[in-house]
Amino acid sequence: MFKIAVLISGNGSNLQAIIDNISTGKLACTIEAVISDKPDVFGLERANKAGIKTYTFDKKTYGEDLSQKIFKVVENNVDFIVLAGFLSVLNGELLEKFKNKIINIHPALIPSFCGNGMYGIRVHESAIQYGVKFSGCTVHFVDNGTDTGPIILQKTVPVYFKDSARDLQARVLEKEHEALIEALGYIIEGRVRVEGRKVKIL
Ligand code: GRF
Repeated sequence: MFKIAVLISGNGSNLQAIIDNISTGKLACTIEAVISDKPDVFGLERANKAGIKTYTFDKKTYGEDLSQKIFKVVENNVDFIVLAGFLSVLNGELLEKFKNKIINIHPALIPSFCGNGMYGIRVHESAIQYGVKFSGCTVHFVDNGTDTGPIILQKTVPVYFKDSARDLQARVLEKEHEALIEALGYIIEGRVRVEGRKVKIL
């Protein structure tokens, strides 16, 4: 069975989407661990309720050592890692040993509205401010940059003139759940091929 770890920093609605799709049988994988870089976030409660082992490595305590702490948990236990609302930048052995085995979901159409400091509601405030007519979400492989790895799939949403950043955030979040499950399904089925910067779904 395909084993994954899910990394979170907050609410965990993307984690919940994975949990729900495993229980319906749509995703043929198991979540071996949920790892948070922030204590007492609701995502940890979601994991506990689902009987999933959780780890908390507070980024305020571990700083640069965070990735190595995570690596020690996952190195011989999982096939793949999913960043689901995870806000720390990973580095070191974790990225080397899990090259093209870590994906992230970003709430915009990369390369728009991404990179350092672009997370949560700020992403949608920037999109509204810029006046884009479409936004959406991106599932991509994680490399040693921020939101810079090869793109696996994207989903779009319309942006209406009257939209607040919260309105757009809610519309995008729904698509995130769909996109993450779709991408994870392809990965579990072994249908994802990376060719340079481009990704082919077989
Ligand atoms: C989502 O917009 C996700 O894309 C971003 O963090 C937000 C919260 O995600 N990375 P979740 O509800 O914690 O999964």
